[in-house]
Amino acid sequence: MKKILCVVGTRPEAIKMAPVILALKQEPWAQVRVLATAQHRQMLDQVLSFFDIEADIDLNMMRPNQSLTTLTGRMLLDLDAVLLEEKPDVVLVQGDTTTVMTVSLACFYHRIPIGHVEAGLRTWDKQNPFPEEANRVLTGRLAQWHFAPTESSRQNLLREGVADSDIIVTGNTVIDALLMTAERELNLGIELDASKRMVLITSHRRENFGEPFAHICRAILKLAQDNPDVQFLYPVHPNPNVKEVAHATLGECANIHLCAPLDYAPFVAAMKRAYLIISDSGGVQEEAPALAKPVLVLREETERPEAVEQGVVKLVGANYDNIVAETQKLLDDELAYKEMARGVSPYGDGLAAGRIVRVLQQYYAAQDKLADSDSEAAVEAAVEAAVEAEPA
Ligand code: UD1
Ligand code: UDP
Repeated sequence: MKKILCVVGTRPEAIKMAPVILALKQEPWAQVRVLATAQHRQMLDQVLSFFDIEADIDLNMMRPNQSLTTLTGRMLLDLDAVLLEEKPDVVLVQGDTTTVMTVSLACFYHRIPIGHVEAGLRTWDKQNPFPEEANRVLTGRLAQWHFAPTESSRQNLLREGVADSDIIVTGNTVIDALLMTAERELNLGIELDASKRMVLITSHRRENFGEPFAHICRAILKLAQDNPDVQFLYPVHPNPNVKEVAHATLGECANIHLCAPLDYAPFVAAMKRAYLIISDSGGVQEEAPALAKPVLVLREETERPEAVEQGVVKLVGANYDNIVAETQKLLDDELAYKEMARGVSPYGDGLAAGRIVRVLQQYYAAQDKLADSDSEAAVEAAVEAAVEAEPA
């Protein structure tokens, strides 16, 4: 048995790690342990409960409006004891959060191999997204296995000098999770006017906090005022830097529905119901193209260029004029809309988790074989030595 510690800290990590955890649990050679740092609390718990996954260890890290350094420091200290106690053969981390970078560092100090799920995403700009670009670069320096979602993420890793043999292109497990979920009966749970189109909004990036986020909110307000026949549904991220501004700017507008973050299944229902999506989320950029929904991305650059290249995702930044103009175009121009609502899935085919599991299985099978042949050789050598030592 190999002990595999799967780490989840935030909502997107849990969504994207869930298919890997569930697949590993089917494997007789794998002892799966789940470590929740709980960098997120409610948003993590709802995903784990949806996928019927229970954390074996829960560090309960989240504090209101936590800072990056205190979160990192507290987590690193707690991880010491966990890794000493658990002694896993491998630790799997997913993505680019503080959890991922901190767990990778702790594993490195404990000489525990790391498998990085969703490896190789890069903007090559340390400030965008902040701090995620640095988190994933640092994790990439420390990981043994790099499970890259696409060929372009593989190329990024090669450019950084990662050995080709350590990179495996698997697809992104987000599509596994999406397909598993889309199969179920989905209920949005929010009353919307069935005769009206809906624009779905999410936003939470740290580099947008302050003035950029204020521009985003003003653009949404303008769009809602100009389009009273369109409904704007905005599940607001609980980060106080987002929540307070969103409610203050958009709370009073009749056709803007602000709500708490949606659980994963209702959110998938919301994406399916949406006419278009405005978001700065990484995961939504991957999911929406597979559901044939155009996405306008509230960022200057993206580490997910594939859907942009295919013309189904467009970067609009946190720029008021761009957001208003590009959204209005999609609402008014059916041809432009159809061009972006084509339904492509450049990030995966739903089979990524299985590929990750096979890599680990084959690695450990080969390692066991080597150990067996080493011990056979050792027995033979011992017998030979004993025979030679016998008196004639
Ligand atoms: C984090 C990740 C980001 C990821 C995002 C997904 C880092 C640095 N950032 O950003 O990469 O895209 O999660 O959503 O790792 N909060 C709650 N309840 C929750 C979750 C958060 O109240 O369930 C509030 C708390 O006040 C918390 C704050 O949000 O302190 C910020 O959480 P944090 O994980 O530090 O940052 P995010 O902005 O969520
Ligand atoms: N999501 C969700 N509820 C919401 C908003 C998003 O379940 O109200 C899901 C979404 O489907 C995607 C993931 O959360 O899989 C993305 O998380 P987030 O945008 O918080 O983080 P990012 O992907 O930007 O790191």
